[in-house]
Amino acid sequence: MRMVDLIEKKRDGHELTTEEMTFIIQGFTDGSLPDYQMSAWAMAVYFQGLTERECADLTMAMVQSGDQIDLSKIEGIKVDKHSTGGVGDTTTLVLGPLVASVGVPVAKMSGRGLGHTGGTVDKLEAVAGFHVEIENEQFIELVNKNKLAVIGQSGNLTPADKKLYALRDVTATVNSMGLIASSIMSKKIAAGADAIVLDVKTGAGAFMKTLEDSEALANAMVQIGNNVGRQTMAVISDMSQPLGFAIGNALEVKEAIDTLKGQGPEDLTELSLTLGSYMVYLAKKASSLDEARARLTQAIQDGSALETFRKFLIAQGGDGSVVDHPEKLPQASFVYELQAKESGYVSEIVADEIGTAAMLLGAGRATKESEIDLAVGLVLRKKIGDYVEQGESLVTIYSNVEDIKAVKEKLYNHISISKERVSKPTLIYKEIV
Ligand code: URA
Ligand code: CA
Repeated sequence: MRMVDLIEKKRDGHELTTEEMTFIIQGFTDGSLPDYQMSAWAMAVYFQGLTERECADLTMAMVQSGDQIDLSKIEGIKVDKHSTGGVGDTTTLVLGPLVASVGVPVAKMSGRGLGHTGGTVDKLEAVAGFHVEIENEQFIELVNKNKLAVIGQSGNLTPADKKLYALRDVTATVNSMGLIASSIMSKKIAAGADAIVLDVKTGAGAFMKTLEDSEALANAMVQIGNNVGRQTMAVISDMSQPLGFAIGNALEVKEAIDTLKGQGPEDLTELSLTLGSYMVYLAKKASSLDEARARLTQAIQDGSALETFRKFLIAQGGDGSVVDHPEKLPQASFVYELQAKESGYVSEIVADEIGTAAMLLGAGRATKESEIDLAVGLVLRKKIGDYVEQGESLVTIYSNVEDIKAVKEKLYNHISISKERVSKPTLIYKEIV
């Protein structure tokens, strides 16, 4: 096989065979195919697209390019959730204990990463003593015992994806639906998921800004999952404004605790119940989505979801008493209110800009080397559609520095107030089940 022929074949709009897709990914991973040929191929894919079968082949070739996590010693169907990323997205912290409390095994591999706030691991480290540096064996034991454990990213997962993503980044080929979908799905599958629930965000704070693109990505990922034997479901959810109220590490842990107690924000609660129902159903712990939802609602009401969170924290060295005393989480030195300059209805809270404001306070990393401040962040007091009186608080700002002029300015510039009544945005645009 010659790479030049395969580039030509794709350039001219023909479908590559499974053997050809495997040849490309293997050759690129082992270095026998040069970057310039891979770049030309990626550009051909960018213009011609990938068929459903090619996407499935690409995904599995990337899965096989590195280690695959073996979760076979964990009893039950391992369902993983993936979000395409948003602002103040506290769902992972809620979903883990919530679905584990009804018997779904959650074996979560999580990272830190860059962004408006830290990743799941950073957030959990806001709980004193909690750590994810555990051995694989202990990880598996903990999931079998408590149904929930989180381990830091390790091993050599999907090296082909890492290399290809870096190449796409500098050759203007990131934005190809087939390449994005295969990239995301390969990582979930290599991490050991038997079934996958996807939360594809849409709006200003999302990777996909339009509903049309979000829907195309969701469909492409669901097809891949189902074609490679991992049952997959997806929702398309709103990320025009941040999810819930809290954006920040310790602040989101507190928000997750509130939600597990049944006292969380309406949107975060609803999205968690929807995604959680899919997870419970796919794990075969309920025979319908309605039954799954009823079980989760019960787990919140009877306290078992919160108890699962406590046990999980303690099992990984954390102070479990934070679930009763969230004031034990790291606290910021300064608390400010952002007062509304006029009365009216909140009409816009631009998610990505609000996320950047949280990052300016130190809640997230701008570069890999940045230090993260677990205590700081924002809590929205109003969401789109709410009425606010002049002088009333729009946002509470938790800071460890006194001078927050730039943060306030950013917030004022990206929160709009209208004299006319504004309806609440749709939370879930579409469900692909
Ligand atoms: N996120 C990924 O993981 N891969 C892509 O290709 C794009 C976004
Ligand atoms: Ca939140």
